[in-house]
Amino acid sequence: MSSLEVLISSEQIQARVHELGAQIDRDYPTGPVYLIAILKGACFFLADLARAMNTPARIEFVGISSYGKGKTSSGEVKLTKDLDVSIEGHDVVIVEDIVDSGVTLSYLLKVFEQRKPRSLRIASLLDKPERRMRPVEVQYVGFRIPDQFVVGYGLDYAEDYRNLRDVCVLRE
Ligand code: PRP
Repeated sequence: MSSLEVLISSEQIQARVHELGAQIDRDYPTGPVYLIAILKGACFFLADLARAMNTPARIEFVGISSYGKGKTSSGEVKLTKDLDVSIEGHDVVIVEDIVDSGVTLSYLLKVFEQRKPRSLRIASLLDKPERRMRPVEVQYVGFRIPDQFVVGYGLDYAEDYRNLRDVCVLRE
């Protein structure tokens, strides 16, 4: 039997996402900002964050897969879907649902830095600093959370629970 307990409610998420949108507007008053979401978990956050911003945004996606996924990352990642556009000379914000070990983002930062964007930052709805294996600087953090397994608002367990409106702790 598994159980779900609300950790961050949909109202809290929406309020915080609006704050982050306003912060990004202040940092990039003219735009366009390339919001690049990592599939699949970040798609809900991307959709809400983009609409919480007034600065013009362009939306792109990348796919990254980690090997040996269970509830933890294995430490090895690869790009499964690349960008369709050049980011050279552009302001880029990578949009992520959660930073856990930091393996995914440290890899993607390295790949994107080689493409010479004007600026490169990270927005993550959730951050689990206790689990970090690779240092990653996240400029826009929604919520810092303890080391509990969470699902909802894009986050899955074996592809389930992504469409929950709240972020919930999953206990089995
Ligand atoms: C999850 C999450 C991040 C990554 C974070 O993705 O969406 O991309 O793991 O973990 P890390 O900091 O330890 O690298 P996952 O590979 O589960 O894919 P998904 O977004 O399709 O669920």
